[in-house]
Amino acid sequence: MKSTLSVFVPVLVHLLAPALRSQEPTPKPAEASAEAAPAAPRGLENAALVTSAENPTTEAKVALGKQLFFDPRLSGSGTMACVNCHLPEHAFTDQKPLSTKDDGKTNTRNSPTMYNVGYLDRLYWDGRARSLEGNVVAAWKAQLGGKPDAVAAKLAAVDGYAKSFQAAFGQAPNEANIGQALAAFLRELRSGNSAYDRFVGGEADALDAEQKQGWALFVGKGACITCHMPPLFTDRQFHNVGIGMKAETPDVGAAAKNAFDDPKKTGAFKTPTLRDVSRTGPYFHDGSAATLADAVRVMASGGIDNPHKDPLLVDRKLSEAEIGKLVAFLKALDGKVPFAPPELPK
Ligand code: HEC
Ligand code: HEC
Repeated sequence: MKSTLSVFVPVLVHLLAPALRSQEPTPKPAEASAEAAPAAPRGLENAALVTSAENPTTEAKVALGKQLFFDPRLSGSGTMACVNCHLPEHAFTDQKPLSTKDDGKTNTRNSPTMYNVGYLDRLYWDGRARSLEGNVVAAWKAQLGGKPDAVAAKLAAVDGYAKSFQAAFGQAPNEANIGQALAAFLRELRSGNSAYDRFVGGEADALDAEQKQGWALFVGKGACITCHMPPLFTDRQFHNVGIGMKAETPDVGAAAKNAFDDPKKTGAFKTPTLRDVSRTGPYFHDGSAATLADAVRVMASGGIDNPHKDPLLVDRKLSEAEIGKLVAFLKALDGKVPFAPPELPK
């Protein structure tokens, strides 16, 4: 486990930043650049994304990956695309507790947001994917029932795609470069410029009074910040908070052989980012909490008891009014990032 100091020093610096910065003249909001480039979460403007040496990001790959993400030609049935479960208007989630795959089977886990995935070194709820490239090819096969060779041939026959694959990779489409284009697109999906980002950037009025009280509870009495650390509002670690542990055969999560292969991680799942959380319901890895207030209530009351529960999660004895304040604060984490869907080549 990390030492308390290594966790709290950066947090403290982050929390003090607005106070320190208030000595300086108020910075001008960067409206023009927000349109031009995806706004990174405040504090990560210069942070490195988790990249792949074999797949440096280029504009051509990002534009192509965006089309592929929306294109049902990637699926076995020809009718389902990545975007069916990862909808931009819901911060790239789908509002369903558990969604149905292309083959008609139901997922066992809730569709997560695509925002800020480029900062994660372990993907999926259980952390089994070690790279975005690996993750998206797996998702393509498992969720969309995609047959890579058949799909590559289909795309190669589309003039627009043939040209863009040549431009981006100097190659015809194939399994690897389809995955690389999708990963390049997802790495660019950053979500920042939220009311919270503006607040820590020195705009004292960006949060209203209730949200400020919620932020204080988040950091203080509620101790949510222990795991949901800014700027991403996740520590990128895996914890058992008890969700789904009452099921007949509970999902073992990160303990699985193909994830961490560690029984100590039984029932542990990735701390989800809370950025854009007001738009990503239903909540938890099994979609079991319908509303944000429900999810916050579970977390604030110490999760659900089970033999593997993380001792960091305890009942914080919050009142309903305090839960409401936390929810109000979480709404300040909605990113303001413009997104326009692509046109697909015919
Ligand atoms: C039928 C719904 C569905 C479709 C279609 C779908 N996904 Fe997902 N996606 C999910 C679910 C459910 C998970 C979580 C699975 C898990 O954690 O075990 C997920 C997880 C992911 C993750 C991991 C995010 C994280 O934070 O760990 C990425 C990246 C991803 N999907 C990308 C894609 C791409 C790219 C496509 C298209 C090739 C796609 N998905 C198609 C439902 C879907
Ligand atoms: C011990 C670490 C830990 C602490 C402390 C913690 N959380 Fe969580 N939180 C998690 C994990 C892990 C999950 C995912 C659980 C799952 O789905 O199995 C989660 C899920 C959530 C979700 C659902 C998000 C989603 O996308 O599904 C919300 C909302 C949330 N937490 C808010 C809070 C609040 C508010 C607090 C403080 C009262 C808090 N959490 C304290 C680790 C923590």
